[in-house]
Amino acid sequence: MPENSDTPDLPKHVAIIMDGNGRWATERGLPRHAGHRQGVSTLRDLLREAVDVGVKCLTVFSFSTENWKRPEAEVSFLMTLLQRFVESDLAELHAQNVRVRVLGRRHNLPRKIVGLIEQAERVTADNTALQLQVAFNYGAREELADAASRLARRAVDGTLDPASITTEVMDAELLTAGLPDPDLVIRTSGEYRISNFLLWQSAYAEFVFTDVFWPDFSIDHLRDALDAYSRRDRRLGGLTNRSEPGSVS
Ligand code: FPP
Repeated sequence: MPENSDTPDLPKHVAIIMDGNGRWATERGLPRHAGHRQGVSTLRDLLREAVDVGVKCLTVFSFSTENWKRPEAEVSFLMTLLQRFVESDLAELHAQNVRVRVLGRRHNLPRKIVGLIEQAERVTADNTALQLQVAFNYGAREELADAASRLARRAVDGTLDPASITTEVMDAELLTAGLPDPDLVIRTSGEYRISNFLLWQSAYAEFVFTDVFWPDFSIDHLRDALDAYSRRDRRLGGLTNRSEPGSVS
């Protein structure tokens, strides 16, 4: 039975930087793509758990705008992985009432993949149990630059007063428009970076870093991260909820 999504200590939106696939594979004497393949399997398990515990929104970073620098064979494998993920998992995701969206630039993706992304988004558009965002060909700076460019175009056209550009206007222009900001960002593999992921949206997120490589990230690790989050004191720039009246933190 899913927990109530309004449970105050449960993050509404969890974002994950799934890192360490390559090292996981190398440690086992396997090619890097074996790590990516195992990483998809981890993602499947985590998705089921997220639905079960009542997380309403999950965003995973699966291909960054910088990942094009990798060898062509690896880039091509990651493209194929997204394609296979959509082809093989869409029916189950739909049955689980998961809404799927893909965040990122599309103009330089293979046309077949863009078609599959559009199909997945269309088929699951009315689903409500969990919103899954797969960040693919995504970079936060690119997202912000694209948003600025569209707003500037409207200003030039005379349909937008530059003085009316508030943080809400920016929010509405981003790929995550309409979604809550991430409450919790998890990064695996012992790296302590945000790597151009949801820079604007994570302004007040809590971060959990773990040394575990993504393919080894289990349901128990997710529970640990949710547990750590529930013990954080989120002040959002205000005063702590947990201190004595009158104390300053
Ligand atoms: C980082 O590990 C991971 C990636 C660049 C790809 C993440 C992709 C998946 C988990 C599977 C893809 C899922 C979908 C839905 C397409 P790394 O390769 O940077 O590992 P390393 O730092 O150990 O080299």
